[in-house]
Amino acid sequence: MTCDNNVYLIKYIILALKYCIPLIIVTLGLINLLSRKNKKRALKKLLLCLVISLVITILTIIAEIILKNQDQCIKCTMENACKKQTLEQMSEKTSEQIEDQPEESQPKIETIDGVTYVDGLLIVNKTYSLPEDYMPVGAEGYQRCNECITEETKEAFSAMQADAWSLGLNLYISSGYRSYTYQDGLYNRYVEKDGKEAADKYSARAGYSEHQTGLAFDLNTIDDSFAETAEGKWIKDNCYRYGLILRYPKGKEAQTGYQYESWHLRYVGKELAEKLYNNGNWITLEEYYNLSSEYAE
Ligand code: DAL
Ligand code: ZN
Repeated sequence: MTCDNNVYLIKYIILALKYCIPLIIVTLGLINLLSRKNKKRALKKLLLCLVISLVITILTIIAEIILKNQDQCIKCTMENACKKQTLEQMSEKTSEQIEDQPEESQPKIETIDGVTYVDGLLIVNKTYSLPEDYMPVGAEGYQRCNECITEETKEAFSAMQADAWSLGLNLYISSGYRSYTYQDGLYNRYVEKDGKEAADKYSARAGYSEHQTGLAFDLNTIDDSFAETAEGKWIKDNCYRYGLILRYPKGKEAQTGYQYESWHLRYVGKELAEKLYNNGNWITLEEYYNLSSEYAE
């Protein structure tokens, strides 16, 4: 894992608070003891220094444990287990730098019962559609259903929701599974409202929406304001830990075919999600697998 240089500042502050400051305080107490005639008073001061040092050390250890549990980078930095980001890496973050990305090899694209899988991962975008009757297990008879997402997606969301809640953040699914027919109505309403060209930038046509797979869901308020909320900011940098990706990242409209959606997450599993997170510079499935996302007409 490659981490930002800022976490090293935190590491050194923690080390200073844990060792150097207590050591300095105790040394001052000892010097005071050796130089004073009134040893009884100086001893009391030394004792006070020891207590203060102990309190600082204990508080620092508690802060360290909390920080390590909340941030993978702080954890691996404290354990000397992550790579430091070089200045070069910081200024040239490109999709070529993604660890473990298949280099020259082309992904295996296969179509099974009208559904496209790339290296075994179900793909839906403007190029790869779903059959009209495709739906996740348990979604039979529903037009829309937030609980009808796949089991693994549900588990990932629940774990993420629980961790977010412990940090004082409230996450909920606003839109989960949507049937082909429901998406058709939704898309057509957007076309009536904004025109086809505009609607195609933010809404999928029927059969082209990830919501039909049960692997994707929208969080909280489905609009641009979500990105600015504490929940939206946390999601952007933490959803990958649960195997979820920001499917339509900022600045990737040309690749995904859709404008930035800070609220739309897709389940892909933890391994791939971490690669796509790319240390905070999200890359898309289209870039990773070298896929297009364009309607045929
Ligand atoms: N808003 C996304 C692209 C969808 O309609 O599936
Ligand atoms: Zn969505």
